[in-house]
Amino acid sequence: MTAPLLTVTDLEVTFKIRRGLLRPTRKLRAVNGVSFHIEPGETLAVVGESGSGKSTVARAVMRLLEPSRGSIHLDGDDISAMKGEALRRIRPKLQMVFQDPYSSLDPSMIIADVVGEPLTVHGVATGAERDRRVQDLLEQVGLGRYHMNRYPHEFSGGQRQRIAIARAIALEPKLLVLDEAVSALDVSTQNQILNLLEDLRRELGIAYLFISHDLGVVEHIADRVAVTYLGRIVEEGPTERVFAKPAHPYTEALLSAVPVPNPRIQRSRQRIVLPGDVPSPLAPPSGCPFHTRCPHVMDVCRGEMPSHESVADGGSVACYLGRV
Ligand SMILES: Nc1ncnc2c1ncn2[C@@H]1O[C@H](COP(=O)(O)OP(=O)(O)O)[C@@H](O)[C@H]1O
Ligand SMILES: [Mg+2]
Repeated sequence: MTAPLLTVTDLEVTFKIRRGLLRPTRKLRAVNGVSFHIEPGETLAVVGESGSGKSTVARAVMRLLEPSRGSIHLDGDDISAMKGEALRRIRPKLQMVFQDPYSSLDPSMIIADVVGEPLTVHGVATGAERDRRVQDLLEQVGLGRYHMNRYPHEFSGGQRQRIAIARAIALEPKLLVLDEAVSALDVSTQNQILNLLEDLRRELGIAYLFISHDLGVVEHIADRVAVTYLGRIVEEGPTERVFAKPAHPYTEALLSAVPVPNPRIQRSRQRIVLPGDVPSPLAPPSGCPFHTRCPHVMDVCRGEMPSHESVADGGSVACYLGRV
């Protein structure tokens, strides 16, 4: 076995919240005890409702913010406390694509500069050599080289996301963090981008941390899926197992909302509607964070957070069902 490319251990990220000048600050724990790993060339999907801490995990891994606890190892280096020059040196290994292709590209820059900037900044290529490399990158993401001198506003959402991907792979990263990268696109454009990501992975061996609120989107791209709820991973496992035999009631509920192309299966499947809303992360429930909405809640669930235990056919789940 090779060593994992990324290992996140017991990650916690807190934000200080102040609702008014004279009010005391409160601590919002956006990510709580999150652990996972990604092998080289592997795709891990992180899935969960809005507010479950997915973007915070992404930003912590990118070291756009500082974890309050836990460690992040990339390619053998502990990057959780890295700063300044050390962080700049590992940057090329680790790139990100954001949700909104309309705001993530500088509107005043032509595409040659948008895509070529990382090459210049990291001293990889300049001048004609840089332009040649940009042309190759554009072709790699399915865009013609004649786009070089255009501005971002001249492109559709899907094309802009291709440009963002070209920029992100310019430095040949080992890990690409995609935060809701296809969520703003229509279904057919989504599929085109997912196919592109699959091709790039085959050609370049990039690993993906693929974040989405939509479980349906990740089925064909992810090797493994981690399901988040209120800042915690409640279940993790190989995609096939998670979709065929979800072990956590929350995963089951999320899955029941994913449309199935086969109408017969669709009709026979019960949509699980969860009662109530996701509780505030400022006042999370005791014990299992899902217990206030869980159809199978037991007394023990209100006591302590269940530990992760292995599931038959792969992965792990944090749930007392079948244990007590
Ligand atoms: N910069 C911030 N300051 C304060 N609270 C934040 C900040 N960023 C995120 N949060 C809070 O942390 C929680 C997780 O947010 P986020 O990671 O964006 O979730 P997701 O990406 O799953 O929708 C939410 O309750 C959100 O309001
Ligand atoms: Mg988010």
